[in-house]
Amino acid sequence: MGAAESTQAFDVEAVRAQFPILRSLVHGRVPLHYLDNAATSQVPDAVLAAMRRHDETHRANVKRGVHFLAEAATDAYDAARGKVARYLNARADREVIFTSGTTGAINLVAHAFGATLKPGDEVVVSGLEHHSNLVPWQLLRDRSGIRLKFLPVTDEGRIDTGALDRVVSERCKLIAVTHVSNVTGAITDVPLIVRAARTVGARVLLDGAQRASHGPVDVQGLGVDFYAISGHKMFGPTGIGALWGRAEILSTLPPFLGGGEMIRTVTLEKSTWADIPARFEAGTPAITQAVGLGAAIDWHASVDNAAATIHTAKLAERVLDGLGAVGGKKRLDGGRLSAGRVRVIGPQTMERRFPVIAFAVDGAHPHDICQILDGHGVALRGGHHCAQPFHESRNLTGTTRASLALYNNAADVDALLTGLDDALGKLT
Ligand code: ALA
Repeated sequence: MGAAESTQAFDVEAVRAQFPILRSLVHGRVPLHYLDNAATSQVPDAVLAAMRRHDETHRANVKRGVHFLAEAATDAYDAARGKVARYLNARADREVIFTSGTTGAINLVAHAFGATLKPGDEVVVSGLEHHSNLVPWQLLRDRSGIRLKFLPVTDEGRIDTGALDRVVSERCKLIAVTHVSNVTGAITDVPLIVRAARTVGARVLLDGAQRASHGPVDVQGLGVDFYAISGHKMFGPTGIGALWGRAEILSTLPPFLGGGEMIRTVTLEKSTWADIPARFEAGTPAITQAVGLGAAIDWHASVDNAAATIHTAKLAERVLDGLGAVGGKKRLDGGRLSAGRVRVIGPQTMERRFPVIAFAVDGAHPHDICQILDGHGVALRGGHHCAQPFHESRNLTGTTRASLALYNNAADVDALLTGLDDALGKLT
């Protein structure tokens, strides 16, 4: 996972104590073991308190009023933008556009950057993408005549950068790929993607939804042009996310949505556009949620991220080990997992991947597995995880996915493996 060495022990129980929902009893009887963090993470007290405080003391619309509350709300909203900018290592706050999430961010690029493309221009995605980074490009293709091309996926579940030379042509204007897969957890080899794009003068967009929850991102170091994130996967609220884009690119793009506050002048005949970021934030934004995302970033900074990364990687290794992925011969009590019925779909070790672990069980449907695991208090996701083409390429209708966050502990892993043992006994 590329974690820096940390000499500090990670006090997971102290972290857990800050997340009230982790004290829940599922169905009123079993402790919650929340392993669906790739879908949405939980929210600490500090974030809940910040949003409540904002609505109790600073609630007003932003950028529109000169009264005390309007200015306080605008300051809070702008401060949140600054926190996102620093988390992503943007060169300037105005490079951060608040959106509803990663989906909103990618759709923004597909419309605004997409409007600059001509029929026959090419956009390259991969066979591993979340539908959020596939469908917006299909829609663009259908309305503008661009060509959509695909990087294949390796047997290990990584974007096959070996195919870049073949897939990326002189007509390519954008390579849009995931930074970390929401199915296989694999980290994309971004430098190779960027190099291939630069060779033909194309831009690079990364879907950072699964990466940003695991610590600060360096968009300048990555050398990309657009980066999309979701607050609800980063210990923040739902309904807020961000698009980072290079100022010199964003400033040249037309708006996506029209409405209040994104204009410079409006007559009945025509309008001119505000500078970034306002140009891309039409209408009243998700103000309280932006404040919550800023608070989530502050909260994350209070955690030893290097120690947290090692902690979650160790737990993920236990999951992989328990699933029989390492060597394919590991057993749970009773040996019922030893017959090769559980296949990890993705890298089999924690090398160059994050703790998102999808697996298939021969003869058992993911929804049935998830339902039995729910009886053990274990929250998983089953299905195609909005990555249907990848699953179909493996002849799978779906997988079961366990995804870890820094507040997960050994009890969560034990509950997963015990519950899975139960499920296998019942289903296969
Ligand atoms: N993108 C989220 C997931 O993969 C919803 O589960």
